[in-house]
Amino acid sequence: MKIDVMVASEEHLRFVTQINDSIDEAAKQRGTGIARRTDEYIADKINSGKAIIAVNRDEFVGFCYIESWGHDEFVANSGLIVRPQYRGMGVAKRIKQAAFELSRKRFPNAKLFGLTTGEAVMRINTELGYEPVTFAKLTDDEAFWAGCQSCVNYDVLQRTNMTKCLCTGMIYDPEKVAQKRAAEMATQKTTKKSGSWLSRLLGR
Ligand SMILES: CC(C)(COP(=O)(O)OP(=O)(O)OC[C@H]1O[C@@H](n2cnc3c(N)ncnc32)[C@H](O)[C@@H]1OP(=O)(O)O)[C@@H](O)C(=O)NCCC(=O)NCCS
Repeated sequence: MKIDVMVASEEHLRFVTQINDSIDEAAKQRGTGIARRTDEYIADKINSGKAIIAVNRDEFVGFCYIESWGHDEFVANSGLIVRPQYRGMGVAKRIKQAAFELSRKRFPNAKLFGLTTGEAVMRINTELGYEPVTFAKLTDDEAFWAGCQSCVNYDVLQRTNMTKCLCTGMIYDPEKVAQKRAAEMATQKTTKKSGSWLSRLLGR
């Protein structure tokens, strides 16, 4: 088996209905009640180069797409799906990695975020450098939150004045990550310097 993961293109439009059926079926199984997207919406994501697809030769394996919100200040991954027979093989991890790279390339200054109740996604996001945050740190773009209206838990979101729900919000803030990396490098340099001073003193 050879699973390839790539930015979806015109040749993958033939999978649109299958992709949409798979997302829809998984949502029903999880009981989220999230409304089915239209096939046109999925096709538009593919046509605009905002989708990642995994294929096993001529077979559809998995998918996800990205969308920007709040005037490109935020980018979210959505519609992540791996067909049941291909789960547990690291495919979602590869799809999310590719979506991460695509988001960083197309929206280099945007904060990346996602909402999830799933442990697999939480694990993958953490590995990519995302951190859990309160909803206040996510986009305030009403069009994004309108997507929650069909969820069975929407009443929770409304009762809490859109501040919390059953999903965990996770964010990758490129500025914060860069600052963290710079601080780590500075600490490493200091440790190295004091280490070599100590070595010289001890004659090692
Ligand atoms: C969630 C989903 C995309 C995971 O796909 P997958 O290809 O099986 O995931 P991977 O094999 O890449 O696993 C990634 C990590 O999650 C863990 N994981 C996978 N499935 C898991 C599960 N059901 N429960 C807990 N952890 C899980 C893996 O062990 C791995 O963690 P590790 O790196 O620490 O070992 C897939 O189960 C799916 O399509 N589910 C239905 C749709 C869905 O829930 N989408 C997410 C909406 S937010």
